[in-house]
Amino acid sequence: MSKNIIITGGAGFIGFHLSKQLEKKGYQIYLIDNLSRGQLDLEFKNFIKKKNIKFIKKDLKKKLKLNIKNIRYIFHLAGSVGVENINKKPYQSLINNIITLKNIIDFNSKQNNLAKIILFSTSEIYSPLIKNNKIKFPLKEKNKIIFENENISRDAYYVSKAINEKLIQFSKIKHLILRPHNIYGPRMGYSHVIPELIKKILNEKNKKTNKTIIFSPNHKRAFCYIDDAVDQIIKLSLNKKIKNSVFNIGNMKEEIKVIDLAKKLKKTLFRKSKLIRGPITAGSPFRRVPDMNKTQKAIKKYKYTNLNNGLIKTLDWYLKELKR
Ligand SMILES: NC(=O)c1ccc[n+]([C@@H]2O[C@H](COP(=O)([O-])OP(=O)(O)OC[C@H]3O[C@@H](n4cnc5c(N)ncnc54)[C@H](O)[C@@H]3O)[C@@H](O)[C@H]2O)c1
Repeated sequence: MSKNIIITGGAGFIGFHLSKQLEKKGYQIYLIDNLSRGQLDLEFKNFIKKKNIKFIKKDLKKKLKLNIKNIRYIFHLAGSVGVENINKKPYQSLINNIITLKNIIDFNSKQNNLAKIILFSTSEIYSPLIKNNKIKFPLKEKNKIIFENENISRDAYYVSKAINEKLIQFSKIKHLILRPHNIYGPRMGYSHVIPELIKKILNEKNKKTNKTIIFSPNHKRAFCYIDDAVDQIIKLSLNKKIKNSVFNIGNMKEEIKVIDLAKKLKKTLFRKSKLIRGPITAGSPFRRVPDMNKTQKAIKKYKYTNLNNGLIKTLDWYLKELKR
């Protein structure tokens, strides 16, 4: 049985954590990334020295020509992400996310042993239904997918992922569609809720006002620690019986308001700054919590890292990183 795996976006947050776990299972792993967002930091540099890891710096907007045979799984994580990034470059982001998948699909046509392509979609796919109060919580995989009829830059992200879901379905390639919901943990960069709050709270100590503004304070998110997300991803992906289906990735038990999350971080960081309720960030869904029943039943696992423990591990990493 072939043990070759490709992970696109392998230098990014989820890609790197996923690679580390798959490496332990003895796979030969090819990590592809153009480093537009992923980092060639010390942790990553040390990891790619391992003999069963090969890092290939490539832009997947260009046709993929690799002389690797017998690939068993392709995990496709590469793409444009992050609200700020998408808002700045909606056109380029939409193109990037669609072309990279098309090139992966074309590359696959030369492979004989592929068990499946694992496509990383997003929880943002439910956003238009949430915005229009047309959905029940928690968010089930079988909900409809709708597009807004307005020209909103942020929407380029969920639109690209919705198109990608259809692309992979129509390609007739065996696949798995995963929709991650607010995954957090070490080495996730700074443009996600948790690291943004950490940085903000830590920075306030230098300012005279001693105030930290928290945007969308009453919006609720359910956070899932990276190790749990990777565990779900691997169990679903390597299961031979699971294919051509959609699964949420996340933790429905750890739902919290953004302001309460900020309070928790402030307390853990021993900061005294005053938290001020700021305005709502445009386009941010007021609530997001996945229904995890389908995933949990498939992988037979129901217990996950609680938010306090996950935050401590994450803070530990960021405090060391910020001192470097
Ligand atoms: N982190 C989350 O909570 C979350 C939530 C929903 C969906 N997702 C999805 O999961 C996937 C991974 O997310 P992440 O948080 O690890 O993001 P990330 O930005 O850390 O990783 C994505 C990687 O893709 C690379 N990339 C982008 N365009 C490329 C191209 N043209 N060619 C080659 N490499 C390219 C970037 O350099 C980056 O390293 C993404 O597809 C994202 O949409 C993540």
